[in-house]
Amino acid sequence: MSRSKASKRGSARKNTPAAKAPQKKTARARKPREASSAETIAKKQREISVSEFFAKNRHLLGCDNPSKALLTTVKELVDNSLDAADEANIPADVEVRIDELAEDRFLVRCTDNGPGIVARNVPSVFGKLLYGSKFHRLKMSRGQQGIGVSAAGMYGLLTTGKPVKVVSRTSPKKSAQRFEIAIDTQKNQPTVKSQEDTEWDSSHGTQVEIELEASYRKGQHSVDNYIRQISLANPHAQLTYLPPDRSSDADIQVFERVTNELPPETAEIKPHPYGVELGLMMQWLRESTHRNLQGFMSNEFSRVSSRLAGEICDTAGLPRTKKPKAIDQPAAEKLHKAIQKTKIMSPPTDCIAPIGEELLGQAMQSIHPSEFSTAVTRRPAVYRGNPFLVEVSLAFGCDDISAEDSAVMYRYANRVPLQYQQGACAVTKATSSTDWKKYGLQQPRGGMPTGSMVIMVHIASVWVPFTSESKEAIAHYPEIIKEIRLGLQDCGRRLGIHLRRRKREADEAKKRSYIQKYIPQVAVALQEILGFEDKKRDETVEVLTGVLERSRKL
Ligand SMILES: Nc1ncnc2c1ncn2[C@@H]1O[C@H](COP(=O)(O)OP(=O)(O)O)[C@@H](O)[C@H]1O
Ligand SMILES: [Mg+2]
Repeated sequence: MSRSKASKRGSARKNTPAAKAPQKKTARARKPREASSAETIAKKQREISVSEFFAKNRHLLGCDNPSKALLTTVKELVDNSLDAADEANIPADVEVRIDELAEDRFLVRCTDNGPGIVARNVPSVFGKLLYGSKFHRLKMSRGQQGIGVSAAGMYGLLTTGKPVKVVSRTSPKKSAQRFEIAIDTQKNQPTVKSQEDTEWDSSHGTQVEIELEASYRKGQHSVDNYIRQISLANPHAQLTYLPPDRSSDADIQVFERVTNELPPETAEIKPHPYGVELGLMMQWLRESTHRNLQGFMSNEFSRVSSRLAGEICDTAGLPRTKKPKAIDQPAAEKLHKAIQKTKIMSPPTDCIAPIGEELLGQAMQSIHPSEFSTAVTRRPAVYRGNPFLVEVSLAFGCDDISAEDSAVMYRYANRVPLQYQQGACAVTKATSSTDWKKYGLQQPRGGMPTGSMVIMVHIASVWVPFTSESKEAIAHYPEIIKEIRLGLQDCGRRLGIHLRRRKREADEAKKRSYIQKYIPQVAVALQEILGFEDKKRDETVEVLTGVLERSRKL
């Protein structure tokens, strides 16, 4: 059959003008293939710098269109400011200012009151990809890869040729320093264009300016929305936003902090044995300075006591005293299997800090006033050995959302809003696979529930499994989806109770108004039947109304 199709296509082509074109022309268009030898190919083989790679693949970083580039830049700057202030136990005060310099040119400036950055590290922080303080640790933070702000700076440099401008001060005793830093993409190294002492009225903090090609939009994916959402998940931070279209001070938006208490401090943890892959474990064994396997196991992993480490060695059939460096691949595989067979306690959970039900509720009410709101903080759970925790908050009957629309979804990872790739996110999967009809809402098959409602889901973890470098969606780990669904169900049940009560009250009110309407008629009818005076008739109306009133109070 395929052959007859092919011949048909062949004969059809003969009739086309192209087919009638002189043979010579087609022959000239095609160059004969040149064979490359391994040697000629070898001349072209060289290392690819990480910044060159991301410059070409900027979509991986969230810079695939001008309005997204603006959002990503703001986001990377604010995330870093909040991370730094939290880590230094300073109640964050962050100002974001955007200026439109030309039609497609913007200047983003972010100023924080954090600890500042020591001068010797400033060039690498802003001019080197994959440089940061958060990648090598298991601790809850907004950034993790070390390609946030340097990538935003690189995008600015590529599109405008302007370096990143940084002012940083680490203490009132030291003067502030101003830098201009560009990234050499071929080498993935910073180039310091200038560095000098400067006057700055803050005693500590960081100010970063990035000029970039971008566009400013309103709507779901907007910077305005991001700022609103980030304040919802960071009730301890004060945010000031100067949007590019401001015409007077009245357009400056200030999101006051809802609480003066900082989020609880989170501990850094060691990896849990259940989550470690074989190859990685082999590398650790090779690099280990421990004298024996038992010591290695109990020191490098969380929840492995010396006794348990011994047990794992026994199960693997390996001597407890064996030198870690001497463990070869087959032995490592035995060890890895033995770990999976051993019952090990879940990792400690003081490494994650939830926002908390009360603050979530307060923040939600201040941003989306509604007739009903509720919040749930789930107990920590574990995926691939990493602890994580889910929080869900729900506001129903919001003034600013139509009842016919799909619920508005806010997704967060470690207090950072995720605004793109909603369809690819574990949160969306969990929400659309929850049966909302049970709670009295409408829901198209396999879709989001309908209603004037905001659903917020926050996932906090020492390592958030994003689906890509741009950190837009959370991977579909079954453990994570399950926890989200349980959180949604908790909130859904409460909403269901509220909706049923609301319906009951509405039904009763309707009945009551109906009865109220007929009470005078009843009294008139009684007067006619029993033949009593008008006074008695009016008294009857009063008595019946009283009975109705009392039934309302009951
Ligand atoms: N505003 C800031 N204040 C203090 N330190 C900062 C600030 N911005 C960035 N840093 C430091 O620079 C590092 C690199 O930042 P970034 O490239 O965004 O990567 P990541 O946030 O993923 O670690 C951070 O890990 C942090 O140590
Ligand atoms: Mg960052």
